[in-house]
Amino acid sequence: MPVITNIEDLKRIYQRRVPRMFYDYAESGSWTEQTFRENTSDFDDIYLRQRVAVDMSGRSTATKMIGQDVSMPVALAPVGLTGMQHADGEIKAARAAEAFGVPFTLSTMSINSIEEVAEATSKPFWFQLYTMRDTDYVSRLIQRAKDAKCSALVITLDLQILGQRHKDLKNGLSAPPKLTPSTIANLMTKWRWGIGMLGAKRRNFGNIVGHVDGISDSADLGAWTAESFDPTLDWNKVAKIKEDWGGPVILKGILDAEDAKMALQVGADAIIVSNHGGRQLDGAMSSIRALPSILDAVGDQVEVHLDSGIRSGQDVLKAVAMGAKGTYIGRSFVYGLGAMGQAGVTKALEIIHKEMDVSMALCGRRTIAELDRDILLVPENFEGRWQA
Ligand code: GLV
Repeated sequence: MPVITNIEDLKRIYQRRVPRMFYDYAESGSWTEQTFRENTSDFDDIYLRQRVAVDMSGRSTATKMIGQDVSMPVALAPVGLTGMQHADGEIKAARAAEAFGVPFTLSTMSINSIEEVAEATSKPFWFQLYTMRDTDYVSRLIQRAKDAKCSALVITLDLQILGQRHKDLKNGLSAPPKLTPSTIANLMTKWRWGIGMLGAKRRNFGNIVGHVDGISDSADLGAWTAESFDPTLDWNKVAKIKEDWGGPVILKGILDAEDAKMALQVGADAIIVSNHGGRQLDGAMSSIRALPSILDAVGDQVEVHLDSGIRSGQDVLKAVAMGAKGTYIGRSFVYGLGAMGQAGVTKALEIIHKEMDVSMALCGRRTIAELDRDILLVPENFEGRWQA
């Protein structure tokens, strides 16, 4: 077994073990992938201030996200098709998150269903909602999340229409995979994945198949989105969903201060500054670059979280020191899951925790409450100056 010391190590094992089409699905951004690339590279423009001779004993990364205790300000992001990365992937990731004391967010487009994840875990998880044209189905989905005692609803606002990821089209992405000659050739090299999948509880979209008429077993993401997602979603509808749900609501996909103000008006408990991991509007700004202006606009009135681009504990530290109250990892946990199942997700969380804790100490801080922009060196023009 190789010695795994960082998220990149997990990614290398993941790439070897998981069928190409699912690796490509996770590892793609839309079109030129500029936003996907800059989500990670823009973190490098921010430097940390090294401070010395500060007592670093008794440190803690514990804090709260939407009032819930977390062992570090990192939640598992909703990721579609997680159960195709590893057999029962959502269940395994949820269990790892629960044991680590961080929130797990189940995607509408998951393989394991809400009920399966609820049965396999003992603490509430969060549910991510996509809004569909079929409003009865959406109401039933919300009810299922309530019945499963989900403790927050994460409403995704940036995917009424699917961004084009070239590789998914070329690979004919579907769950379960369609058996073309090239898929079969690739699957034959992934025996560990295949054996796991033979024993999986489920190999199709568990929140959808059997709950929506006319969705076949091999529904593929592109077709399903085009047919079913609600292109008319607007702020009134968001407010209505919030009312139907009645619990904490997190609005995901905010990248602009004006939208952050709208989210505030509909009474969001938190917003996630996100560009969907660079998978939707290519050419949009990276999340970390968009964060300061959104914090300046609404940060004192609503909890601001960030996803897209987090690959290390130092990235978490930078976002939190900037003012985010929480962050999300998507690909970083998927790499661990595809590499080693539940133990791999735990490994990803341990790596990020350690990197965060050590960096925090070397910046001379001991708790999350002590983190602020003072530990960062942010270039003056980090957000850019744009023509009016
Ligand atoms: C779905 O959320 C996707 O980004 O593929």
